Amino acid sequence: MNPIHIKTVSADEAVKAVKSGDHLHFSPVATTPQILIDALIRRADRGELRDVYIHHLHIEGPVVYADPQYEGIFQADQFFVGGNLRKQTQAGYADYIPVFLSETQKLYRSGMLPIDVAMVQVSPPDKHGYVSLGTSVDATLAAVQQARTVIAIVNKNVPRAWGDAMIRMEEIDIWVEGDTPLIEAHLTEPNEVEQAIGKHCAALIEDGACLQMGIGAIPNAVLSQLGGHQDLGIHTEMFADGVLELVEKGVVTGARKAIDRGKMVSTFLMGSQKVYDFIDDNPMVLMMDVSYTNDPYVIARNPRVTAINSALQVDLTGQVCADSLGTKFFSGVGGQVDFIYGASRSEGGKAIIAMPSQTKGISKIAPELSSGAGVVTTRAHIHWFVTEYGAVNLYGKSMQERAKLLISVAHPDHRQELEQAAFERFGPHFRFVKE
Ligand code: COA
Repeated sequence: MNPIHIKTVSADEAVKAVKSGDHLHFSPVATTPQILIDALIRRADRGELRDVYIHHLHIEGPVVYADPQYEGIFQADQFFVGGNLRKQTQAGYADYIPVFLSETQKLYRSGMLPIDVAMVQVSPPDKHGYVSLGTSVDATLAAVQQARTVIAIVNKNVPRAWGDAMIRMEEIDIWVEGDTPLIEAHLTEPNEVEQAIGKHCAALIEDGACLQMGIGAIPNAVLSQLGGHQDLGIHTEMFADGVLELVEKGVVTGARKAIDRGKMVSTFLMGSQKVYDFIDDNPMVLMMDVSYTNDPYVIARNPRVTAINSALQVDLTGQVCADSLGTKFFSGVGGQVDFIYGASRSEGGKAIIAMPSQTKGISKIAPELSSGAGVVTTRAHIHWFVTEYGAVNLYGKSMQERAKLLISVAHPDHRQELEQAAFERFGPHFRFVKE
């Protein structure tokens, strides 16, 4: 092999490419370019920058650029609010651009959102002159293609993922060395409620289904119930450790997919080092542009697509709030609508919203959404709805039938007040509606 030599500079030297007024993209989650962010902060502290706009999906690690002292220097306009920017966003120091995950890339490619500098992490170049964006292709590939300047941390810990993740090294303008470990997310054991939700969802998943699931306790609880299934496929926006065991057991084969047969398709990843090792040089995994993974019409080309997403609140008509608690932004639209709609168009597909019936004694099924809450999945998009008390299908049901069905899977402590609210809303006829 003939190793390709690249000229690297320090992070401080690299971020000199950023000018006041620029729009930046950070590669998100596991490949958050922390050493470049730290160098940017040093420039800001020296008074060298003003009005720099920062865009990303949720990023990991310490975030100071949205602290009040950087007012007028950095403006974080995120596509998804992560835990580390939630407080600053709710206080107004950072902001949120609501957008379908499928269309985040389009904001850059259409020129709607300017993109001056993309900051990413990549694997070392291979003998053919390619590097991999590893765990984050999402809107990051679009940012790389559109940006005036691409700064890449070349990191031996970035897995050499296949698919659209592979880019020519000529796409990169400035190289910085940095072999920091990728940020990991470790799964917690599902509690009793999550296990019950997992069982109800698993009962809806057929052999040969093509799955989309996010990160967190519920997807993990669902996946842990699928050991006896056959020929499951993965076409998702992300996956984590829960899927690996099913691959090892031969449950996930992708054999019945209509497109990308035998392959697992995703656009970003966040898990333990095991996940990053799994996708490294693994032809079974395609890390693809989010314009492909999350396009509802692409999703629908596979049969039996089963999409499982979670929510913060649902009202008695089936409107789903997933990005805010009242007026306070909590997360983002993400890929929820992309996959709910894609799954519902797929032959034999099932779109599922799954969540615990209550949190801290508050019912998550509410007569009305909290004041200021936004709808992510509309009442026309929702199909299956699952709590620890069961699974109901709201599709094709009237308002009053939906209310009955939703109350049947609410926490027993709240059913009476929900019945009362439905009765007040729909009148005496409600008592005679059948589930
Ligand atoms: N009223 C008041 N508080 C509520 C609430 C409600 N109806 N629902 C949740 N909360 C609180 C919880 O108590 C918890 O508080 P804490 O942080 O103090 O413990 C917090 O909000 C988070 O709730 P939780 O149920 O633990 O959320 P989660 O981590 O399971 O995430 C979503 C749920 C909806 C935020 C997440 O799935 C999401 O961001 N979805 C949108 C995007 C999407 O679906 N993408 C596709 C999959 S990647």
